[in-house]
Amino acid sequence: MVKKNPQVLQCIAESDKALDVLGYTEHGIRHVSLVAERVGCMSDALGLDTGVRERAQMAAFCHDMGNFMGRTQHHYWGALLFHQIFSVDMDAEACMKIVQAIANHDKEEMKFTNPEAALVVIADKSDVHRSRVRTQSIEETRKDIHDRVNYATTSSELLYDAEKDIISLTLSIDTEFVPVMEYFEIFTERMAYCRKAAAYLGKNFGLTINNVKML
Ligand SMILES: [Fe+2]
Ligand SMILES: [Fe+2]
Repeated sequence: MVKKNPQVLQCIAESDKALDVLGYTEHGIRHVSLVAERVGCMSDALGLDTGVRERAQMAAFCHDMGNFMGRTQHHYWGALLFHQIFSVDMDAEACMKIVQAIANHDKEEMKFTNPEAALVVIADKSDVHRSRVRTQSIEETRKDIHDRVNYATTSSELLYDAEKDIISLTLSIDTEFVPVMEYFEIFTERMAYCRKAAAYLGKNFGLTINNVKML
């Protein structure tokens, strides 16, 4: 229902175009599909109920669709757009949980009141990868720290380790291209959000870069 909705798809396409103009990394179908897929895997691994899984995946697919209306408030625009597109046909409780999860994903005063929002944050903030970079040359890539760090990240895996009861992000970063310090320069806040979201789900959050445990 959500993935095939022409309005949603148009919002995502316009948002990715707008962020390209602003010089941001990829925020289109690749990003939102990956976030939705990771939310699904995480829900299954944590044994969450199918309602939570479905709502979190819908929020994940739509979480960045408000960017074409303005970057700084895009979480609110996306939430309101979701409400406008789907509220007539959707159960009010389910709809508001999704609206809240979208609105919450990029807020400084991020507060978790439902698991859907926590799942979206973990999957969204952990998406760092070479495939998000859209610069045309290595020289251009080197100019921006977000491009550099994403380009240097050659693999990224988000998993729940049931034995250790920890949600972990495992990255391979090409340190010939960037020092690991640059990753922390731009991702420390995002990792703190992941930790907060994991704690809401009753789990720890771990980060391993190039086989070294950082968190
Ligand atoms: Fe966002
Ligand atoms: Fe995002």
